Amino acid sequence: MRVRVTPGTTVGGEARVPGDKSIAHRWLILAATAHGRSRLVDLPASLDVRSTAACLALVSVRGRPALEAWARNVAALTEGHRSTWNGDASEGASTALEVEGEGRSALIEPAGPIDCGNSGTTMRLLAGTLAAAPFGSVITGDASLSSRPMERVAAPLRQMGARVRTTDGHAPVEILGGPLTGISYVVPVPTAQVKGAVLLAGIAAEGETSVTEPAATRDHTERALAALGAPVSVEGGTITLRGGYQHDGFSASVPGDVSSAGFLVAAAAVTGSEMLVRGVGLNPSRVHFLGILERMGVRVEARPLGEALGEPVGDLWVAPGAELRGVVVEASELPLVIDEVPVLASMATHARGETWFVGAAELRGKESDRLAGVADGVRGLGGHAAVEGDDLVVPGLGLRGGVADARGDHRLAMAFAIAALAAEGPCQIEGMEAADVSFPGFVETLRGLGASMEATT
Ligand code: S3P
Repeated sequence: MRVRVTPGTTVGGEARVPGDKSIAHRWLILAATAHGRSRLVDLPASLDVRSTAACLALVSVRGRPALEAWARNVAALTEGHRSTWNGDASEGASTALEVEGEGRSALIEPAGPIDCGNSGTTMRLLAGTLAAAPFGSVITGDASLSSRPMERVAAPLRQMGARVRTTDGHAPVEILGGPLTGISYVVPVPTAQVKGAVLLAGIAAEGETSVTEPAATRDHTERALAALGAPVSVEGGTITLRGGYQHDGFSASVPGDVSSAGFLVAAAAVTGSEMLVRGVGLNPSRVHFLGILERMGVRVEARPLGEALGEPVGDLWVAPGAELRGVVVEASELPLVIDEVPVLASMATHARGETWFVGAAELRGKESDRLAGVADGVRGLGGHAAVEGDDLVVPGLGLRGGVADARGDHRLAMAFAIAALAAEGPCQIEGMEAADVSFPGFVETLRGLGASMEATT
């Protein structure tokens, strides 16, 4: 879908965003492997999370009907094996998926390949879960996912005792699971997906598993496991877990995705408006970008209101400051803003002075090469951006208007749309449908907040 953005409106007000994708993947896996019934409220209907539900349906017996129906977004009551999906998709209504689990040991061999679609988190976390299951499975993905590195997750799972074969380091990944033994693993590159996979394998392993990260990454797996009573401890950069723990079913509401909220607050910041996003996750390992917004001159307030399965939840408010300034984002900060670089770069195109993202090589291994993708897109929109070594440099200077291609990458599509809101001339974004991967309803939400965006042919 090609979307035409006519700049010049202010975009602000009050909004909600779909549930957090990272949290939803993990809670779905934990629900399907729990002993007893789990109730997940406000799961986001994003394509990535639907991939996780569809994959889990292939290896669960009692959870299957509801997981399948939810994954297909069937708005119908599904009763089967005590799992349900209430399917109330009406505006503003909460939806609840109930999954009946029989514990990890009840997972069954899938009838065919397990297709993770575009979702790297699905593939890596499932690899960790299936490593402990006593059967063989083959995990596949779309062309983008099949170009992303998978040895990083295969290596520690092999050390734990699983037989894992990648295809030249990529998907399809074949796993022959079985009894695992805990390991002490030092993750070479900071990645929450690999950490999460090792922890999900570790909970099923014999003995202790520890994971040491070279830099902090999002900690949703360890938070959820701890909230479910698992013997997990965190000290410095090391998470330690005693294996052989089987959790029970649980109930929780998925907080709004703060990374999706980032696009809305950026829209307000570049158009000089206020924005309040209600009910978003405020996990410290996810909100580092708010500090960067402040350094850029945006007024930001995160207002914690409660907790869901160990995850802080609250409202997020932003207002424009005197001006938007360029900043340096250091390499040491990158793991904590890994998903926000495209939107921060889109803001940087409208800032005074240069913005540098230093040592951003990991962005090359995302849904697309986001270093090249951001730079090309910004230039396509009539602005300036360059990749220098592993750094992304955005000199500010505004956008004249033009055309940018999302390259099938949801975060690029949304970042370009936000940048376009404050361009001098009209802009077109090619491939806007990619936003559905993490933020279904993105265009409609922005329109509701004042943006002038329309689909063109
Ligand atoms: C995610 C981790 C990040 C992030 C991705 C979601 C997760 O990847 O980019 O969108 O849910 O664990 P890495 O930690 O592998 O960099």
